[in-house]
Amino acid sequence: MNITLFFVFCLVTSSIGHMVHGMHSMLKEDFELERKLMLIKKSPMKSIHTKSGYIVDCVNIKKQPAFDHPLLKNHKLQRKPSSERNISETDVHISPTKSNFEIEKVSCPKEIVPIRRVTKDDLIGGISLFNGQILAQTSSRRHSTHISLIKYDAPYFGVSGTTSVYNPKTIKGQSSSSHIYVENGQGDSTNKIVAGWHVSPELYNNDATHIYSYWTHDNFKTGCYNILCSGFVQTDRSYYLGARVAQTSTYGGIMVELPISLFQDEKTKNWWLTVANKNIGYFPASLFTNLATGGLVGLGGQTATHVGVPSPSMGSGHFPDDDFVHTCYFRNVAYQNASRHFSGPPEYLIEKFNDAPKNCYQIRYNDDFPSPIGHALQFGGPGGNCDN
Ligand SMILES: *[C@@H]1O[C@H](CO)[C@@H](O)[C@H](O)[C@H]1NC(C)=O
Ligand SMILES: *[C@@H]1O[C@H](CO)[C@@H](O)[C@H](O)[C@H]1NC(C)=O
Repeated sequence: MNITLFFVFCLVTSSIGHMVHGMHSMLKEDFELERKLMLIKKSPMKSIHTKSGYIVDCVNIKKQPAFDHPLLKNHKLQRKPSSERNISETDVHISPTKSNFEIEKVSCPKEIVPIRRVTKDDLIGGISLFNGQILAQTSSRRHSTHISLIKYDAPYFGVSGTTSVYNPKTIKGQSSSSHIYVENGQGDSTNKIVAGWHVSPELYNNDATHIYSYWTHDNFKTGCYNILCSGFVQTDRSYYLGARVAQTSTYGGIMVELPISLFQDEKTKNWWLTVANKNIGYFPASLFTNLATGGLVGLGGQTATHVGVPSPSMGSGHFPDDDFVHTCYFRNVAYQNASRHFSGPPEYLIEKFNDAPKNCYQIRYNDDFPSPIGHALQFGGPGGNCDN
């Protein structure tokens, strides 16, 4: 039932008749048609065929898929965060550590935003991945290795860090991520936004690393990865969800980093997502039932695999150590409390979580590395047989 509802939601199809055909025949027979109709409605200014083979449509910022969501009928578009200084195109400084950072970005004209085109396979893969977040552990095994800010100091309004980007080896049915998150509520009223990089052959039909996000306002009954359903409002003209990262870090070799943050706009209460120091868009406050404040914010990694299949590596595949550069990390870890300023959390505000044995993944947090590392999380490991 949930799956069917989700589809109706995603495809913005109003016909109940479709439901009786079942998910697969609906997808096979109607998806191409639905997609064409959607495209006509969105009338992309141009469509960009990326090097990786997927298509990015440049659509009018006011006609983007987000506004198909019933909760966003009367939504007032916010073009940039209200509290931030204005960042003009010429004002972006590239620091040395970011110079080899490469997202497959595009360039849409003014008032036009990039939207990665959704294919039938994306939807099938995206739904199974999303449902994996809640479904009983019958077919998938998940492991999470992360830190969160302690509950008793909540509410929180932002989380950020600069993560190193890797390309952990995965096979179909597996995924491996580095991400930040904000969450509130329990049980069915769990509201959550997650963003970072991940590898998910199920979702992209390849084993490359991609920028991703997902959200839910009802403990994963609805919501989705990237823009597989309407909700996320894209505002940047170059960076978009689902973008492939063209180059990743190698052990002992180059280091590719991704600065990423989620923070709540004090005026509108929308949750902004910043990738590579650009505000790429936001999750409107009205999407959520319970995210007026963040009860939990955190950073770390997650892997998933099928039962009976060893877990993939997390991060670089190497454990935390004193050298810092061998493992996957978040440096300059920061959070926002009610003061609405990002600051590095001291160790006593940090809770570590690792549900895998030490021979699979490990985690370490230090609040005293010298600049430019600062407050830093190291996490990950080779994976393997992690289910005790
Ligand atoms: C930012 O831009 C807006 C509109 O262009 C302007 O009203 C505002 O004063 C600017 N803020 C700063 C800090 O420059
Ligand atoms: C927020 O954090 C700052 C710095 O860690 C601290 O000085 C301040 O008391 C905190 N404010 C609130 C409202 O918790």
